[in-house]
Amino acid sequence: MCEWISVALPKGRLGEKAAGLLETIGYGCGALAKGSRALIFENPKNRVRCFWAKPSDVAIYVERGAADVGIVGKDILLEEQPDVYELCDLKMGVCRMMVAGKKGADLNPDRPLRVATKFPRIAAEYFASRSREIDVIKLNGSIEIAPLLGLSDVIVDIVETGTTLKENDLVVLEEILPISTRLVANKVSYKFKNDRVLELLSRVRAALEEQA
Ligand code: PRP
Repeated sequence: MCEWISVALPKGRLGEKAAGLLETIGYGCGALAKGSRALIFENPKNRVRCFWAKPSDVAIYVERGAADVGIVGKDILLEEQPDVYELCDLKMGVCRMMVAGKKGADLNPDRPLRVATKFPRIAAEYFASRSREIDVIKLNGSIEIAPLLGLSDVIVDIVETGTTLKENDLVVLEEILPISTRLVANKVSYKFKNDRVLELLSRVRAALEEQA
């Protein structure tokens, strides 16, 4: 009998797609995709256990081995730099990391540019690469209101459809980089549960090829 493999899934906007992918590869776990409030689900036949975590926590579960693999955005991997293997680009949750602000916002004021963001490392690295001094203001959500209320000059955030920017009268000022969702693995699991991790990876790759 093979070992169990555990999969950390991101709750929220990516959740449905992530659960759908597990279903597609034959690793669906019962009521996972059916709106249950439970957080851990099992597929005893294929010995798969999956659980919902906050998207920003998925990499921590994987890094520390509480999950063998996980589904996580490249934004979080770049920001948190967890010690995990990135196995493949799942081509879902495709969006862009942007600098945005009010139309005509001055990106070169006579003081450090105030940047509100959930991604302080990405923001710091981006502006450092342009030799622009910034004052990072770390927020946890609803970043778009920061320039509207005068808390910051600009924001660094992900833009998917652009609706949030548009509905708050903000515009893209600069593009930092494209983002998509990745399959990651714990380094010890990759070594000691190699068959299981590679089997999951090959099922995922086959599903992606079929979609393409
Ligand atoms: C993300 C992001 C933007 C929004 C962009 O926020 O921080 O606010 O989505 O999406 P759009 O371009 O499709 O409008 P999220 O919904 O994760 O909520 P948060 O503000 O609480 O982080």
